[in-house]
Amino acid sequence: MLHEAPQVLIALEQSGLAAAIRQSVWAYPAANVGHIVALTLFAGSVAIMDARLLGAFAAAPPADVVRPARRAAMLGLLLMAVTGSVLFTAEASHVAMNPVFQIKAALIALGLLNALFAGRALDAVLADTPARVPLPTRVRLSALLSLMIWISVAACGRLIAYF
Ligand code: HEM
Repeated sequence: MLHEAPQVLIALEQSGLAAAIRQSVWAYPAANVGHIVALTLFAGSVAIMDARLLGAFAAAPPADVVRPARRAAMLGLLLMAVTGSVLFTAEASHVAMNPVFQIKAALIALGLLNALFAGRALDAVLADTPARVPLPTRVRLSALLSLMIWISVAACGRLIAYF
């Protein structure tokens, strides 16, 4: 327990749920494996979606690639949030005070904001853009930003253990 952590996180770490996660032989490892399996779904679908927005697979209409990939990415992120919350709960005060976790959390917020702002206009653009026609520059810039943010989030996730 880190005493300088906010009281609510110390309380979370000392809760029965957190103790059960720490004492269980399988709960933490299962959440950890689940986090990585969800990451493969999330990272794969984000990569396909952003690659199409940037101009890859140009023979396919962008809507046919981006819409299913976006649904898969949302499912992957939901699973990451659920499994990540289990990992967080077990050691809430340590993890929350870890500078790399704080950067990761800020980057997740930035990635979500970028997806929200881009997503608003994206549906109309997708409906109007046939195969082989480049998407508008602002859409491509947002896709590039998305790739950079989510790769950085994954790197931060792995680096938490070293700081
Ligand atoms: C959405 C909410 C998320 C929460 C609450 C969360 C939380 C966590 C926590 C607490 C850990 C364990 C850190 C440790 O003690 O070593 C972790 C590990 C990790 N996270 Fe997340 N995470 C989230 C989303 C993501 C996303 C979106 C990505 C990737 C794009 C990601 C990638 C990783 C990676 C690669 C690890 C290291 C796993 C390992 O080394 O076994 N996380 N996460």
